[in-house]
Amino acid sequence: MKTEEFKLLFEAKSILEKNWREEYTIPSPKLYPHQWSWDSGFISIGYSHYDQDRAQKEILSMFEGQWANGMLPHIIFRGGKGYFPSAEYWQTELSEHSPEIKTSGITQPPVHALAALHVYKNSSDNEEAISFLKKIFPKILLFHRYLLTKRDPENSGMATIFHPWESGLDNSLRWDEPLARIKVEDLPQYKRVDTENVSSDQRPTDEDYDRYLYLIEVMKKNNYDEEKIYKVIPFKIKDITFNSILYAANQAMIKIAGILGQDSEEIDSWVKRTKINYFEYFCPDASENPLLYDYDLIGRKRIEKRTVASLTSLCTDLLSSKQAKALAAWMKHSHMCKEECAHEHPVITSISVDDIQFNPINYWRGPVWININWMLYEGMKNYGLFEDAKNLKKSIIDLITEHGFYEYYNPLTGEGLGADNFSWTAALLVDLISHRED
Ligand code: SER
Repeated sequence: MKTEEFKLLFEAKSILEKNWREEYTIPSPKLYPHQWSWDSGFISIGYSHYDQDRAQKEILSMFEGQWANGMLPHIIFRGGKGYFPSAEYWQTELSEHSPEIKTSGITQPPVHALAALHVYKNSSDNEEAISFLKKIFPKILLFHRYLLTKRDPENSGMATIFHPWESGLDNSLRWDEPLARIKVEDLPQYKRVDTENVSSDQRPTDEDYDRYLYLIEVMKKNNYDEEKIYKVIPFKIKDITFNSILYAANQAMIKIAGILGQDSEEIDSWVKRTKINYFEYFCPDASENPLLYDYDLIGRKRIEKRTVASLTSLCTDLLSSKQAKALAAWMKHSHMCKEECAHEHPVITSISVDDIQFNPINYWRGPVWININWMLYEGMKNYGLFEDAKNLKKSIIDLITEHGFYEYYNPLTGEGLGADNFSWTAALLVDLISHRED
């Protein structure tokens, strides 16, 4: 390992150390002082390379927040100060399924099975790892069953999200049209605190926040009952990123079942169902057009916005190699930031740099995110695009080396944005540096 890599690895581990709180890791001290669901998954992948115990604890502690119906909330409120909407705002006690520990009432992309498999593969103590898998397997199974039943009354093999925060890509362009349909009524007064920590031009707008909170109000009025929510909520999307991750996570679950010698019939049936309907929802004319888009259940159409979400189908094995190559080429032409950049970092932006709505500093409307770039790096390898993967990995490492460990980055300058000392950026850097295969 080169000296700079040692230095970088040391910095990454120091950030994780600072953000570690006995049994979980906060995403960042300033903006996100509790435990977040998909963050925990990515973070445990980083720990898996040097601290198996923490990697296991990180995922297990996230499932302390699991609801009795299987729902894994996107936040467990752990007592940190300065986050809104707070536990009191969510009022999850309205649901008969919510646990004693305070949580939010919505979910986030199900990366945990993928993380658990990384933890097992990177483990130094195999016996300990098996015992961890035995504990986590039934919990993740319950979560996936929730997603593919309560969140999929259509039996499509794809879960429906009820809130932009469930996508993880909160203010993506893809949600503009579905959100524009919402007429915000009777919203209690509230005060944002995110913009006290991060400049408001890097965060979602107040209009977005009104709609985010209005959707929570709808859920509260319906006591977080999915059946009732399904009938009335004005935001219902089959999200391509969420469901590509869910499909890959189910495949990871089949592998875990194999390791544990457990039956995987139910998971097999989910995978089969997703395989049948994935293209039907996301890309009916796959031979003509390789691009895949989310499906809006209320607008009854695909949301044809060119964003990085379409590329996340590379996380599945569902694409033909022709489609995968076409996606990789599209990525290079319209997503990677080359000539436009002051620093030459061909990392992948959240929307194309030549899109008229491209904004280099605003959250999911232009900036570069490390978790998505990491997923695409993994996806490229799955499709044998090793050269592209290697280049992307180098660019991610260069970006972090030059600009630090941030939540997201300005693709035109490389400047770090949002929260600093960001845990998943540190954790995924550890993973990238620790890979020896390329
Ligand atoms: N990502 C959202 C936030 O910024 C919700 O978890 O608070």
